[in-house]
Amino acid sequence: MNITPLEVTHEKNLYEQVAERIHSLIQEGTLQPGDRLPSVRKLKAQLSVSVSTVMEAYRLLEDRGLISVRPQSGYYVKLAIAQPPEPTESTPPCDASLVDTLMTFQFSRSSFHTDGLVQLGAAIPAVELMPTAALNRLMGQVLRQNPEYAHSYQLPPGCAPLRHEIARLMMNSGCSISPDAITITNGTMEAFYLALKAVTQPGDTVVIESPTYFGFLETLEELHLKALELPTHPREGLSLEALESVLQSRSIAACALVSNFSNPLGSCMSDLKKKQLAELLAQYEVPLVEDDIYGDLNFEGDRPKAVKAFDRHGLVLYCSSFSKTLSAGLRVGWCVAGRYQTRLERVKWLVNHTTPPANQLAIAAFLANGGYDRHLRQLRRTYQGQMTRMIQAICDDFPPETRVTQPTGGHILWLEIPGCDAMQLYKEALRYGIGIAPGPIFSPSRTYGHCFRLNSGILWNRDVEKAIQTLGHLVKQQLAAKILDEAPPLLRQH
Ligand SMILES: Cc1ncc(COP(=O)(O)O)c(C=O)c1O
Repeated sequence: MNITPLEVTHEKNLYEQVAERIHSLIQEGTLQPGDRLPSVRKLKAQLSVSVSTVMEAYRLLEDRGLISVRPQSGYYVKLAIAQPPEPTESTPPCDASLVDTLMTFQFSRSSFHTDGLVQLGAAIPAVELMPTAALNRLMGQVLRQNPEYAHSYQLPPGCAPLRHEIARLMMNSGCSISPDAITITNGTMEAFYLALKAVTQPGDTVVIESPTYFGFLETLEELHLKALELPTHPREGLSLEALESVLQSRSIAACALVSNFSNPLGSCMSDLKKKQLAELLAQYEVPLVEDDIYGDLNFEGDRPKAVKAFDRHGLVLYCSSFSKTLSAGLRVGWCVAGRYQTRLERVKWLVNHTTPPANQLAIAAFLANGGYDRHLRQLRRTYQGQMTRMIQAICDDFPPETRVTQPTGGHILWLEIPGCDAMQLYKEALRYGIGIAPGPIFSPSRTYGHCFRLNSGILWNRDVEKAIQTLGHLVKQQLAAKILDEAPPLLRQH
């Protein structure tokens, strides 16, 4: 087979362009499952690239679970590239309610504090994938070079070198932000809490996606806010039609969502939808608390924009951190709070004065050294490969009625299985040393009793593979027991 030469662009590495060419041939069906790919030497000659470029492209496709190598034979398109059915748009109840997250707290404790658990429940990336050695070195350097500064209060908005680096980084999200508009926080969760506190009063109603990240629900409860869940599509995110109808009919204090590769659905709004969302909220003067913690983890193409990129009125309070890309423990996040910045910084000052300066400077040094782009390229590739493998394993081991999201970034999967009792599954799985996040904790109305979330951010290995097999087995057992329970008494005796 002849592959036409590349039209080389300078925006991407050459091996990525070669991989994309092969990927599109697979998508178009020109290369079918089981087909042998051109040998490395042949592709090198056809595309006029080096052997190492072709090898790197093939490795990338292998990591993404699209091709496999057969010893002594060459590279082949994988026989089964899983395409399971997706969950449909959610249909939550349309009443606003106060939030009770006791169940979530119990879940968090059992997920975080159990040694030896195969951690598929909490959305924690594998620490092995983080540049810990480089960050540790930079921490040492920062402490040596700033022996006093590192121990001082660095009051809001936070350390200037970090704010400068973040302003540069945010250009990739389509945002032109001055470093002075950025407030450093202790992770995204503090940014989220401060942002919501800056724009609401106890008793107010906040619109959220359904299902939504349980950390949002805990924050709403703490601030005595009511949650109004809106229908959300697993790929396209919050329904703007539902939002518009709510804005027309009742008083809404704020909207809170994850704009890119959301938790737990993995949805990512298109640019057009983000623009429409910003315009719609501006029309009603409703602030948006935007959490973009997963935005840097896109698998293909350019990093998606933030809704903040379309904010013309200072109404979007953008929150993010380096917890999913560099280090969760350094607790370095930020907020661009627009017209609410002064109010937000007053609360930050009140709550904890400062985010540890040494942590801020270490992250700033990592960003300034130019290692972040390289690190992200590798991380995205690994996450994509792990997610593909997990989806494939779910297709192999779970009942056929299982619906799974197929996010284009991040490291979270959401499963919907009619008839499954996710709370019971969660308890049974713990007995087998497996953590999952049961659906009801993602909704104030405890919807999603038949759904659960899995983390594909931990390193794929035999234990994870076995854990997926065990979960599939437990689900099948549950469904079989249910069929038997619902059978007429005569049938049950046999
Ligand atoms: C959507 C979302 N926001 C915030 C967080 C927590 O972020 P941080 O550790 O930076 O506070 C998480 C962690 O899972 C998350 O999924």
